[in-house]
Amino acid sequence: MAQLWGGRFTKETDQLVYDFNASISFDKRLFKEDIEGSIAHVVMLEKQGILTCEEKDAIVKGLSEIRSDVEEGKLVITHEYEDIHSFVEANLIDRIGEAGKKLHTGRSRNDQVALDMKLHIRGEVVQVSERLQELLSTILNIMEQNINTYMPGFTHLQKAQPTTLAHHMGAYFEMFKRDVLRMQDIYKRMNYCPLGSGAFAGTTYPLDRAYTASLLGFEGPTLNSMDSVADRDYVIEFLSALSTVMMHLSRFSEEIIIWNSNEYRFVEIDDAFSTGSSIMPQKKNPDIAELVRGKTGRVYGALVSILTTMKGIPLAYNKDMQEDKEVTFDAVDTVKDCLVLFDGMLKTIRFNNAIMEKSAMKGFTNATDAADYLVNKGVPFRDAHGIIGQLVLYCIEKNKAIDELAIEELKTISPVFESDVYDAISLKTCVEKRLTIGAPGQKVMEEVIAMNKKILAEL
Ligand code: ARG
Repeated sequence: MAQLWGGRFTKETDQLVYDFNASISFDKRLFKEDIEGSIAHVVMLEKQGILTCEEKDAIVKGLSEIRSDVEEGKLVITHEYEDIHSFVEANLIDRIGEAGKKLHTGRSRNDQVALDMKLHIRGEVVQVSERLQELLSTILNIMEQNINTYMPGFTHLQKAQPTTLAHHMGAYFEMFKRDVLRMQDIYKRMNYCPLGSGAFAGTTYPLDRAYTASLLGFEGPTLNSMDSVADRDYVIEFLSALSTVMMHLSRFSEEIIIWNSNEYRFVEIDDAFSTGSSIMPQKKNPDIAELVRGKTGRVYGALVSILTTMKGIPLAYNKDMQEDKEVTFDAVDTVKDCLVLFDGMLKTIRFNNAIMEKSAMKGFTNATDAADYLVNKGVPFRDAHGIIGQLVLYCIEKNKAIDELAIEELKTISPVFESDVYDAISLKTCVEKRLTIGAPGQKVMEEVIAMNKKILAEL
């Protein structure tokens, strides 16, 4: 047991207590951030005259060597230490002696862990953002290549109106674009440095908190030392944004699974991103999409876990907050993996354009346009809706699409129909006439793609 706080105790900690309390098994992930924060802290201490230049140099050298030794595998982070902070400090003292004992001047593990976690999450926000941007460019590529790939659009999972694959993919582009913007917002809001808040009431040393903050790339220091050590809002915001990313990925996965099914066959997932069955030789399963959908629950779980942990904690630091780490680390690993896997699946997926187009022609996806055709000929919309309803019923009996009926048959339902109806309700017209911004018509789709290309380059 290597602890930083033995002085006041007359008995050894019970082993069970030690194990229950220790966080090294998971906070070792904060190792680099802990050293980075400590280096900034001592550089500031020296600038303020609290450490001598020699002491600062010895500490910085010692910390840098610990970092490279761990990275090169020469030094192993073991469970012999209570947490990552104890590991670093104890090793520093072993290496450089007396000067090492001054590292923790004007600092508490409370502001130290608040800093380490913030630095770590700030890095993860950037990494998640980068993976989202990669996915966005994959989606944009698919959009550019499929402006004229017709497919049915659905409401209630029933065929509704025809659209294009570019349009359908464009919906996901917007979702993931908002996810990147959310990451950027979180970054800005969280980017204030808690170091120098001490246990919770600041310190009597003349620390220059603004200087430490600038060394670590923060916008400035946090403005209330009690809040600084007790705040995990940014973790909650991050997990909430990650949950939204997963919700989007899960919806997308669900569609891929449906589209990949034997009934739909809109897409074929590449062999490299599918799996087989141990018993049914014919199977090729969309396991990646299913797993992404499934892992969504795990990420939501992390969010609810921390919201619940934080809800009853009085100010300032309490050990409950140690629980922020494992679930957050797991959630962020999960989301990063899901983004990479999903992107790989999407990059290699094959779209069966002909099947999608054929499907769009069936299922009366042009019924709204047929009603609009009558409206253009002077029939009030409500009446037109009724007429087309009857027409659909007739088609179902005859097992035909509206545009497969002869003009005479159409006229028996309404005399308003003329031979120009066929062009008016063709798949191409139905899509191409939809030219309001955000709709699937080619001209506006090209405009939107150009706009999004620019936005993506500037994200
Ligand atoms: N392992 C602790 C955590 O993760 C570090 C802070 C401990 N501070 C303390 N006063 N016990 O929250």
